[in-house]
Amino acid sequence: MEIKYQLKPAAERRQEQFRPEGNVGFGRLRTDHMFLMDYYDGEWRDPRIVPYGPFSVAPGAVALHYGQSIFEGAKAFMHQDGEIYTFRTNKNAERLNRSADILCIPYLPEEMQLQAINALIDADRLWFPMQEGACLYIRPFIFATEDRLSVSPSTSYTFCVVLSPSGAYYGANLSPISLLISTHYHRAAPGGTGASKASGNYAASLRAGRAAKEVGAAQVLYLDNNNVYIEEAGAMNHFHILKDGTVVIPEFTDTILRSITSQSIIELATELGYPVRQEMVRLDDFVKGVESGEIIEAGGFGTAAVVSPVGSYIFEDGRRITVGNGQVGEHVKHIYQVYTEIQKGLRPAPAGWLHKV
Ligand code: PLP
Ligand code: COI
Repeated sequence: MEIKYQLKPAAERRQEQFRPEGNVGFGRLRTDHMFLMDYYDGEWRDPRIVPYGPFSVAPGAVALHYGQSIFEGAKAFMHQDGEIYTFRTNKNAERLNRSADILCIPYLPEEMQLQAINALIDADRLWFPMQEGACLYIRPFIFATEDRLSVSPSTSYTFCVVLSPSGAYYGANLSPISLLISTHYHRAAPGGTGASKASGNYAASLRAGRAAKEVGAAQVLYLDNNNVYIEEAGAMNHFHILKDGTVVIPEFTDTILRSITSQSIIELATELGYPVRQEMVRLDDFVKGVESGEIIEAGGFGTAAVVSPVGSYIFEDGRRITVGNGQVGEHVKHIYQVYTEIQKGLRPAPAGWLHKV
């Protein structure tokens, strides 16, 4: 794929390495450029890197009315050699195509996605934030552009990648969050779009997020449609840890996003020194486990959230249960440390996980 470059004039681009003063936060900042490519007449066309800026979109674009739009979230890290390395972006590229299939969006070869990401990071490498724990957050997305009000898959699309110099999603220092256990709000239905990163899934989660915030929780813990099994939490897969150190992640069903972080933790079980297993997790068993002390830690896995400890769960009737002593536990600290050291190149990564830009 031959990428065209239409870069900002040098005087308007970042000239030296970004050294943020305050905490960069998550997803607020952008870099100088974005990657764009269009799909029409059955082909992806015109790959280009252009200055970051607004799109021109038809008011009748299918994405705006019917939500035919998908995205990914990945990260790149700077290692001690001063080089930038992407982390498992091949898994994100694969998953974007899984989402594309679910949303009737055309396949976008993974090699093209990876080339786009790498070229953009390379063009904007001075935006890598030199701050402890910071990274470049990578946001590829595809949206339907055809100007048509009937409901069927669009015949044209735009693929875009933007970068955000970012820090921690739920704040630094692994502070435990609370989750609202919701029997009222559901994120996904069997046979629906829950296993994809469809933009609409996130629009549909806003109301649940608002309800969570009203009771002082960071997010909702979603259950399956029968309110029997734990599914996931906001923008994270859920996990809990048993007294013997076993990490338990709910089985990936078609109502749960296949988190790349969860998959990585499963693959790292030996390195972590803990058994990691996936199974259907009944809410009542989970609650009993927390109350009896059989479950000693819990949290969420996700690219943005990394490993986020959950200190307590709030029921809709206001009742609360606390996991362990409600503070971040030793296992979560250990998992966080091993995982982030691998990302930062301070510990050997499994083959193929990190790619130098
Ligand atoms: N579940 C949902 C609904 C998400 O939005 C995310 C974030 O991407 C995750 C889980 C975690 O997935 P990953 O680890 O691939 O970022
Ligand atoms: C990610 O973790 O990359 C996500 O996509 C979460 C996002 C919805 C904030």
